[in-house]
Amino acid sequence: MGSVSLKIGDGTARFKRATFCSSAVNILMLFSVITTNLFALYAFTSAPRNNQTHLIQHTHKNISMISEHVSLIVKEIASSQRKLARMEKELLGYETIDISRPNLANELKLFLQHHQLPLGKDSRTGITEMVASVGHSCDKSADLLSQYMTYKASGPCPDDWSLGQKLILRGCEPLPRRRCFVKSVPKVGLYRFPVSLWKPVSDKIVTWSGLGCKSFECLNKKKLSRECVGCFDFSNGNENQRFVKGRGKNDFLIDEVLALANGGIRIGFDIGGGSGTFAARMAERNVTVITNTLNVDAPFSEFIAARGLFPLYLSLDHRFPFYDNVFDLVHASSGLDVGDKPEKFEFLMFDIDRILRAGGLFWLDNFYCANDEKKTSLTRLIERFGYKKLKWVVGEKVDAAGSGKSEIYLSAVLQKPARV
Ligand SMILES: *[C@@H]1O[C@H](CO)[C@@H](O)[C@H](O)[C@H]1NC(C)=O
Ligand SMILES: *[C@@H]1O[C@H](CO)[C@@H](O)[C@H](O)[C@H]1NC(C)=O
Repeated sequence: MGSVSLKIGDGTARFKRATFCSSAVNILMLFSVITTNLFALYAFTSAPRNNQTHLIQHTHKNISMISEHVSLIVKEIASSQRKLARMEKELLGYETIDISRPNLANELKLFLQHHQLPLGKDSRTGITEMVASVGHSCDKSADLLSQYMTYKASGPCPDDWSLGQKLILRGCEPLPRRRCFVKSVPKVGLYRFPVSLWKPVSDKIVTWSGLGCKSFECLNKKKLSRECVGCFDFSNGNENQRFVKGRGKNDFLIDEVLALANGGIRIGFDIGGGSGTFAARMAERNVTVITNTLNVDAPFSEFIAARGLFPLYLSLDHRFPFYDNVFDLVHASSGLDVGDKPEKFEFLMFDIDRILRAGGLFWLDNFYCANDEKKTSLTRLIERFGYKKLKWVVGEKVDAAGSGKSEIYLSAVLQKPARV
């Protein structure tokens, strides 16, 4: 077939399994073999016995008739196979990128090509071929994707990280791999850990292409999100006080939350963690925190890395690349809000629940509820998970960005139950 199947990716190489459909094809094959044999049997047993030459003529005729039938059957099988493949695609709900379409970058075709395993079916995993992993939604942005995959192999990559991010934000995640050298930025003047946690980061060691601001000074004058109001600025005190000094009853302090867990918090995951300050404060307490962030409007990833912290460049549409029950703590704030579809939020919450260990803490930090309805539905959802509410505060506060409006926020520390 002239098309390549795409699997919904999670960042790893994907493999195509022998499916229900291929066993259906096997049954069809078996059926055809049996029919062919029956034809042959019929042909030979029902032959007239009177005249030898007559018989041979007849047999000849009948054999050609049989072969006609066989070729008809083979055609039928091929068409069934195509039908089954179509059904399989529909069942799985993924689209295909038609690599025969015009203007598709050659590198994309190369990347997407399936590779048969050299020794046939792998007995351990049941896979027969390696399939390059790329987000199925990439098909919706095929032109952008093709642009992204247009470069000189083994040459320098175009300076187009923001194009990649645009694709990610449209659900094209994971992106295809590329065979080009990304522009390197000399990281001069990095500080040793843990001094690095609170040192300003030089404008020179991050990439500003594709961003409105070209310096941290410019960024500090902007409200980037609820989690990042001057979050790159360590001199004015606001960022330095987060998590260690309460500004209201919705602000829990790291030490009081850690105390709830009796020292059981060693590794954590921060969702939408701004410039990484939560991870920095946790690092000071010997807790390793991974900060999930994209570079929307600011070089968050490079800034976090320059602080000596771990930035995870991943959208919230992507299944978390962690195994089940591994984190002691998940911290999230309004960045968790994924829009109006309640199911979408549920998928996300179930994924958070999955990576959190029993007894681990889910810290919902100043989650912005646009209205009472939102608060009620969020509360109902959380309660369905059966977490123990160690802390639960619904508060109103004046919009941090200075609109003067009063807003509802939910802060909670919830403990995941041991489910049996
Ligand atoms: C060939 O097929 C015809 C019917 O189409 C049958 O009458 C005849 O006996 C068959 N001959 C042989 C040799 O099988
Ligand atoms: C973190 O670990 C270091 C080295 O083990 C230790 O000296 C320090 O007291 C620890 N800090 C905290 C806050 O536990």
